Amino acid sequence: MRLTLKIWRQADAQASGALKTYDLDGVSEDMSFLEMLDVLNEQLQGQGEEPVAFDHDCREGICGTCSLMIDGQAHGPEVTTTCQLHMRSFRDGQTITIEPWRSDAFPVVRDLVVDRSAFDRIIASGGFISANTGSAPEANSVPAPRDKAMRAFNVATCIGCGACVAACPNGSASLFMGAKITHLGELPQGQPERGTRVVDMVAQHDAEGFGGCTNIGECAGACPKEIPLDVISQLNKDLRTALRNGH
Ligand code: SF4
Ligand code: FES
Repeated sequence: MRLTLKIWRQADAQASGALKTYDLDGVSEDMSFLEMLDVLNEQLQGQGEEPVAFDHDCREGICGTCSLMIDGQAHGPEVTTTCQLHMRSFRDGQTITIEPWRSDAFPVVRDLVVDRSAFDRIIASGGFISANTGSAPEANSVPAPRDKAMRAFNVATCIGCGACVAACPNGSASLFMGAKITHLGELPQGQPERGTRVVDMVAQHDAEGFGGCTNIGECAGACPKEIPLDVISQLNKDLRTALRNGH
C-alpha cells in the first residue's frame, strides 16, 4: 500500500504544533497501525529526521497507552485499540490524518504523546478499599450475586486509554470514572468507602479540567472495551446518594 500521512508534529508542550505530510510506500495490509508508524520512523531516521513520538507498550490491547485520533476517530475506524487496528482497514492511496488526543486535561507532551496522568490522580483520589488484616479470607465467605459480579468484571476491563475523553465534545471523563465507580460499587468489598469514593473522584475529575457529561454517547461509541453508557447513570446515582448521606 502507498499512503499519505498527515501527522501532528509538536516539539514539546510549549511549542505550537502543525500537521506535517509524509508519503509512505511498502505498507502491508497485515501490519498493525503502530507497525506502519514504525516503518515511517525508520524512513525518517534514515533521512536524518526526528521520528514521530507516539505512545505504546503492550501492543495487545491491554495497557491502554496507544492513543491516536485517526481521521477524527479515537482509535480509528474499528472498535478496538490503535495497536489492534490493522492496515487492512484502510485502502491503497488513502490519506490518513493522525493527531493526539485533544483535551485540556491531556496536555500534549510531544507529537502524538499526551500526558494522561489526570486519570491516575482520579483513581488515587478514590482511595483504598477496607481490607481485614491476616490471612486471605476464603473466597466464598464474601458472596456476590452473579449478575453483580459479572457487571463488575465487565466494567473492570476499562484500560484507561482516554478514548472516551478524546471522543467527547465536552472532554468529559465520565465513562472512565463510571467504569471505576461501578467496578467497586457492585462488589461487597467496595461498600464501606462507596460514598466518599464517588464524591472525591468527581471532585478530582472536575479539578483536572474534564468537562461535564451531557449524554451525547460518543464515549461509549469510541470505547475499545465497550464500556456501556449506563455506568454514567450509576455514577450519578451513587453521587446523589452520597451527597444526600452527607459525604
Ligand atoms: S471507558 Fe473505554 S474509552 Fe474510556 S478509558 Fe476506559 S477503556 Fe478507554
Ligand atoms: S499498546 Fe497497550 S493497549 Fe495498545
